[in-house]
Amino acid sequence: MRKGLETLKRQALDEIAGAHTGEEFLAIKTRYLGRKGLLTDILRALKDVSSDDRPLLGRISNEIKEAISAEIDGALARLDAEGASDALLRERIDVTLPGRAVRYGTIHPITRVMGEICEIFSQLGFVVAEGPEVELDYYNFEALNIPRDHPARDMQDTFYISDSVVLRTHTSPVQVRTMEKQRPPVRIISPGKVYRPDSDVSHTPMFHQVEGLLVDRGITFGDLKGVLTYFLRRMFGEETVLRFRPSFFPFTEPSAEVDIRCVMCGGSGCRVCKQSGWLEVLGSGMVDPEVFKVVGYDPEEYTGFAFGLGVERITMLKYGISDIRLFFENDLRFLTQF
Ligand code: PHE
Repeated sequence: MRKGLETLKRQALDEIAGAHTGEEFLAIKTRYLGRKGLLTDILRALKDVSSDDRPLLGRISNEIKEAISAEIDGALARLDAEGASDALLRERIDVTLPGRAVRYGTIHPITRVMGEICEIFSQLGFVVAEGPEVELDYYNFEALNIPRDHPARDMQDTFYISDSVVLRTHTSPVQVRTMEKQRPPVRIISPGKVYRPDSDVSHTPMFHQVEGLLVDRGITFGDLKGVLTYFLRRMFGEETVLRFRPSFFPFTEPSAEVDIRCVMCGGSGCRVCKQSGWLEVLGSGMVDPEVFKVVGYDPEEYTGFAFGLGVERITMLKYGISDIRLFFENDLRFLTQF
């Protein structure tokens, strides 16, 4: 029996040496060590061997079993490793390929122009002030000399959160909030979102304004004209021609709307300026004494001017954009041009 075992071992190792593929190795394993395998049969027959011989034969059989097992496992592991390195050798990486570019975002045109506006006014000494978009009726209307039943409210009907809380319709409430908190001289610029319930090619329910306010002793309409002329020439070019047109706002007196000569046609009349040759760009005026009284400034001692401009409108004129809704559709083909 011992001799038979040795022969079996040699036979198995020979077969293993002659095998190449994973399947071949596994077949050998089954043939010798499987449930009906050659070695398994022998192990089973051990129970008929005399108890003197059994321990030795048992040990040899087990050694042979482990030897075959180890040989086959080793061969399979080598096959695996070779397979992996073959895959690496087959892999092709073109190290000369250019890298994939990272796409940077661009600044939204409204944000960009709002920044430019604030930049110009900061150079004139104006400080940025901010106020809430959800605003008290008091600051949005009452304190600005627009009482509840005043017809001026029609032009700025708005979204009401409650009876006394609205989405602000303009940035002018920041004028009042600022003056309540500080004494003159005041020189602020206030950029931000405002809300009105209209929607067409030139109106969106949300848009942006920049408010300006300057209060000190001896401020005149001449200062208003000087500052706004300087600003609009910086914005639209040195050659820009301005027109101050009498207007009405309940919180300024006198009030003026400011037009610039049409940037599209140069004043001869076109679709953009509706044949008038002029484009309205902002509202302005001298702060109404009523507003000063509300914040406790003495109208005999101080005067000031205020203005409010629409950022979308300025941006559309500056870049020749004909539909305001383009700003908010988030189409990258449009936005990445700025
Ligand atoms: N708040 C006004 C508007 O939105 C603009 C304005 C601001 C007019 C300041 C005069 C002074 O129409």
